Amino acid sequence: MIGRLNHVAIAVPDLAAASARYRDTLGASVGAPRDEPEHGVTVVFIELANTKIELLHPLGENSPIRGFLERNPSGGIHHLCYEVGDILAARDRLKAAGARVLGSGEPKTGAHGKPVLFLHPKDFDGALIELEQV
Ligand code: CO
Repeated sequence: MIGRLNHVAIAVPDLAAASARYRDTLGASVGAPRDEPEHGVTVVFIELANTKIELLHPLGENSPIRGFLERNPSGGIHHLCYEVGDILAARDRLKAAGARVLGSGEPKTGAHGKPVLFLHPKDFDGALIELEQV
């Protein structure tokens, strides 16, 4: 059911420092920071040959990654995003298998303008999983 790894998201305490590390030390193609107020994050997209890395930094008081950074002050892998062809079919199949979908259970529009859902990390080996319809 799942397809390509769309991106790995890393929560970082210092977006400029992390961007410089990927651009200058790792030699990656690093985009400009983009505010995503509806998701409570500022994002930097990094294009790799086979997937993307997203650096996430909290935006606003109620950012969903603020607590994560409090628990992981030097940053850490926040979620993995897998592509699916039909997000509603994927959701229904996962729910039938006992997996918990976060939030209302209805897809939201993600950082790339496509429908996304998040799955409870306790149901997936401790990893927060985002599904994105492509
Ligand atoms: Co994501």
